[in-house]
Amino acid sequence: MIEAFYKAKSKAGVIMSAKLLEGKVFAAKLREEAGKRAEAIRAKYGVNPGLAVIIVGENPASQVYVRNKHKACTELGFYSEGIEMSENTTREELLAEIDRLNKDEKIHGILVQLPLPKALQPYESEVLEAIDPLKDVDGFHPVNVGRMATGQQSLLPCTPHGCIRMLELADIPMDGANAVVIGRSNIVGKPMMHLLLSRNATVTICHSHTKNLAEITRQADIIVAAVGKPKFVTADMVKPGAAVIDVGINRIAPKKLVGDVDFDAVKEVAGAITPVPGGVGLLTIAMLMQNTVAAAEMQLADK
Ligand code: GUN
Repeated sequence: MIEAFYKAKSKAGVIMSAKLLEGKVFAAKLREEAGKRAEAIRAKYGVNPGLAVIIVGENPASQVYVRNKHKACTELGFYSEGIEMSENTTREELLAEIDRLNKDEKIHGILVQLPLPKALQPYESEVLEAIDPLKDVDGFHPVNVGRMATGQQSLLPCTPHGCIRMLELADIPMDGANAVVIGRSNIVGKPMMHLLLSRNATVTICHSHTKNLAEITRQADIIVAAVGKPKFVTADMVKPGAAVIDVGINRIAPKKLVGDVDFDAVKEVAGAITPVPGGVGLLTIAMLMQNTVAAAEMQLADK
C-alpha cells in the first residue's frame, strides 16, 4: 500500500536512492477525503461547502494560484466565488468585502490571496484579522494561530498541514524524530514547528541568523526547507536516509522553477524527497479544500 506512494525513478540504469514523494499522489488522496466529507455535509444539511477567494490587483503568480483554487472547488462541486478587486482598492473597500462574506451563509471559507498590493501591505494584519476565525481557511487569524499553538482544534495553515499529512500517509515516523525546519515564516516555518511538535517530533527551527546550520541539519531525520533560496539545501547538509520536504518555489528563469533543495544531489543521500515542481505545491490546494469542508462542518454544527 505504502509503496504505491513511492516511485523509484531509474536514471541511466541506476535506481536513485531516495523515494520520490509525488505531490499528485497525496493530493489525490486528500481531495478524495475532502470530497467524501462534502458529500456527508450535503446529505446531512442539504448545504454545499462554499469558498470565496479575494484577489486584489494583478500579480500574475497569484492569478494562477487563484484560478487553480477555483478549479479545485469546481471539481469537487463546491460553491466558489472569485472576487477580483482592482489594484487601487482601498483598505475600507477590502474590509467591507470581507464583512459581506463573513455574513454570507453560502460562504464557509474566505481567503485573501497574498501578497496584497504595496499600498495595502501595511494593513495585512488588519485584513487577516477581519476574517471570521470560523471562516479563516488559511489558518492565519491570530485566534487560529493561538489555538494551534496551544493544541486546540482549529483551522490549520494549508501548506504545513499538507506536509504533515503527507509524512503520515508515507509512513515516515515523526514521533521522537529529529525534525529541522529551515525558515521561520508565519505561513510555513512557524506553523510547521507547531505541527511537528504536536506529532511528538523534537523540533529545531533554523533561520538566517543560525550558526553552524549544516551541523544542525545533519542531525535531522526530517528536514523541511522553507527559506525561499534556490537549491539552498545541499547534499552535505543531509543525513543519509533523511526525509527531505521542499516547500520552496523559486523561479530561476522564465520557465524554470526550482525548490530550496538541490534535488539532483540530495536525492542520492536522502531516504525520501519531494520534487519541485510536483511536490508540496499540489498539497496546498487539496488542504484548502479540506479546510473549506472543516469550516462548513463547524459552522453547520453550531446552528
Ligand atoms: N500566497 C502564497 N501562499 C498563500 C497562502 O497559502 N494563502 C494566501 N492567502 N496567500 C498565499
